[in-house]
Amino acid sequence: MNIILIGPPGAGKGTQARILEEERGMTQLSTGDMLREARTSGTDMGRKVAEIMDSGGLVTDEIVIGLIEERLQSTGEVGFIFDGFPRTLAQAAALDDLLRANGEELGAVVEMQVDDDALVARITARSTCANCGEVYNDITRPIPDDGKCSNCGAADFRRRADDNEESLRTRLMEYYKKTAPLIGYYYHAGLLRQVNGLGEIDEVKGEIAASLGR
Ligand code: AP5
Repeated sequence: MNIILIGPPGAGKGTQARILEEERGMTQLSTGDMLREARTSGTDMGRKVAEIMDSGGLVTDEIVIGLIEERLQSTGEVGFIFDGFPRTLAQAAALDDLLRANGEELGAVVEMQVDDDALVARITARSTCANCGEVYNDITRPIPDDGKCSNCGAADFRRRADDNEESLRTRLMEYYKKTAPLIGYYYHAGLLRQVNGLGEIDEVKGEIAASLGR
């Protein structure tokens, strides 16, 4: 089953996508991760992407849809978890077309609801393993005492350049202006499931499982 996790920055999409990958063998497709990779390419496109991401704005539909199109070519997947994609109505329409062309469809769209104050607190305390991308939080999920990533054992952790209050304000604005309309789009398609993203990570995991019916 292919699913979308939708929610504002810091809602916990990446955290839950990694759990779904580990526990169900699904494949996470995070456009944020793909773009962070693209920005280090040293190309003009990479520099443009870096500038937009650091400001908190959205990268063009054309670039993002191209990245997803490339990744959807792989076959034999149990199901994709779209994390941070689509973010505009044009991206949602493109995803419908790409899935249909591959003989696939969406099974559910899970909206993770978290209020803005909690988002700011989460994002300003986030760090990520530089090697495998495992996500930590100074308060709710600290880096292990031995200073090594619990997933891969690396000892290098990073904070994202866009994880500051100013970029976050722009990211939230972009979310409410351009991404929130997708909630109506998927409600209309009968695919929308809504979960409370404010609970502990395990509680949210349980809510997502219940919303998917397994
Ligand atoms: P992206 O990387 O997608 O960032 P985002 O949507 O802003 O989401 P985040 O990764 O910040 O948060 P998350 O919901 O994954 O939360 P997480 O699990 O990490 O995009 C970055 C940028 O790339 C965009 O601004 C844009 O420029 C560009 N971009 C990406 N996709 C694009 C697209 N499709 N179109 C155009 N541009 C695009 O959790 C956050 C923190 O909270 C962590 O520290 C975590 O440990 C903690 N946490 C998680 N769950 C809980 C919980 N239940 N309780 C307490 N703490 C929790």
